[in-house]
Amino acid sequence: MKIGIFDSGLGGLSVLHEARKLLPNADYIYYADKAHVPYGEKKPEEIRGFVKDIFEFMIDQQVDAIVIACNTATSMVDKAYREQFPIPIVGMEPAVKKAVDLYGEEQKRILVAATPITIGGNKLHELVSHVDTQQKVDLVALPGLVRLAEKGHFNSVEVEDYLREALKDFNLSEYGTVVLGCTHFNYFKESFQKIFNGRVHFLDGNEGTVHQLMRLISAEPKKDEKGKVTYYFSGEEVNSKEDKMIEKCMKQLEQVFVIN
Ligand code: DGL
Repeated sequence: MKIGIFDSGLGGLSVLHEARKLLPNADYIYYADKAHVPYGEKKPEEIRGFVKDIFEFMIDQQVDAIVIACNTATSMVDKAYREQFPIPIVGMEPAVKKAVDLYGEEQKRILVAATPITIGGNKLHELVSHVDTQQKVDLVALPGLVRLAEKGHFNSVEVEDYLREALKDFNLSEYGTVVLGCTHFNYFKESFQKIFNGRVHFLDGNEGTVHQLMRLISAEPKKDEKGKVTYYFSGEEVNSKEDKMIEKCMKQLEQVFVIN
């Protein structure tokens, strides 16, 4: 079984990381659209064009299913569009419902962080107006984190300064939960913790997305078998320098995986 996972860049590696834990026996193709990252600051028609090209690339590679490991790209291609392609395509959206279900009864507020495209999009606003019956959810766009993640800057003063500035209009002590509505944001859990004085829960859509994939393709995990991963940066197989960057990302993901 071969699964294609893609993102605008390195954020979707957090979905691959989760997928390899839950379904280690599958082979994976990971596609980072490095030539076009960040998606979150592009025009919707442009993003749709990139996504269509990547779907076609993945189908040519004979994958059995595709995971859009990008909230921004998912918000641009609805279910009807995805169903035109001959294989299952799983998308992801910020885990707002899960946050409200789990922590909505707590006194504290819920902050959903994502890219400008996701934050400004109808899809997220519809979701929030549907589930946020107690008006506890606030939204914030943090595009700077995507750029920092692409540079491999995960724990630095630069990250903390960016977060402090971007969140300066929020009373951070009011928040109990941060929804990581962009796959690039998983790398920064430690910095978020510092900014919020260690008092927040984190939620992302990774586990739910992989479970949805497994349901759709009726996949059986075999814990003692390990499939292989092939990495592409915008259609080109990665070179050794890029490989080092992926290794660095995977190490950071292993470290933050346990922070919930
Ligand atoms: N990682 C992506 C997401 O989950 C988008 C990052 C970007 O390219 O702006 O939304």
